[in-house]
Amino acid sequence: MALHIAPVPAYRARLTFRRMLAMQGSANLNIMIKAARKAGRSLVKDFREVENLQVSSKGPGDFVSKADIAAEQILKDELMGARPTYGWLGEEGGEEEGQDPTRRWIVDPLDGTTNFLHGLPHWSISIALEHKGEVVAGVVYDAAKDEMFFAEKGAGAWLNDSQRLRVSGRRHMVDAVFATGVPFGAKKTLPATIRDLSRLMPQCAGIRRFGSAALDLAYVAAGRFDGYWERELSPWDMAAGLLLVREAGGLVEAMREGDDIFGSGSILCANEPLFGGLARTLREV
Ligand code: IPD
Ligand code: CA
Ligand code: CA
Repeated sequence: MALHIAPVPAYRARLTFRRMLAMQGSANLNIMIKAARKAGRSLVKDFREVENLQVSSKGPGDFVSKADIAAEQILKDELMGARPTYGWLGEEGGEEEGQDPTRRWIVDPLDGTTNFLHGLPHWSISIALEHKGEVVAGVVYDAAKDEMFFAEKGAGAWLNDSQRLRVSGRRHMVDAVFATGVPFGAKKTLPATIRDLSRLMPQCAGIRRFGSAALDLAYVAAGRFDGYWERELSPWDMAAGLLLVREAGGLVEAMREGDDIFGSGSILCANEPLFGGLARTLREV
């Protein structure tokens, strides 16, 4: 059964969040949210154009890769402009060590490129801040639906300034909806994915493949999905989302117990009551 959270009047929830911000002094989170909004405006404008390009025979491929690169440039200008000593890891622009070797931005300017390319309004911008190897702040922005998911270590996960996020309260596999990503082309994870689906499908209420790993994680944090797993991911797909899930009360590990999430490129998460069942099903040898 879904966890019932008593509704908090919007003005009170906003006050709570503002107070939290004042207490935590999260200037970095403000910088991240501002950068995500700016890149989001650019991508939304380009997305409208992509919808028009669907009917052309050439298709929107080149246009989309330019939109992606332009969004990363906006993010880099904003984030590195505000924090010039931090390092950088971006999907399009690669890695740069900063003067401060303990902090870096981990950025995917457009997560869900295939959706974007096909005019499907489900894609996101993902920004994480890592400090001494640990993600301490994360933003996942769904610009098409104007949903800003964000979290800071120890300060909870939030949606759009006023809504505190909590993972779902479902306790039984049979009621649960899980998300995953399926490989494209001849990726080597195809047999594992087929095995996962054949094991899990008979046990749960449904499996979804929406096409943006960062949003899959944000949806677990919001209690929309009960859990999520995927292999062959990069740090920029997962960094912000994994903090959202943890700060919303969920459990997050690599697919193989004990592995490092970024090192293995795999992720498995769920609310506490379902994590064990999901992990047993997918990890069984
Ligand atoms: C992809 C999306 C997708 C996942 C892929 C990722 P991209 O990121 O997150 O959901 O299944 O593995 O590569 O390429 O759209 O940034
Ligand atoms: Ca991605
Ligand atoms: Ca991307």
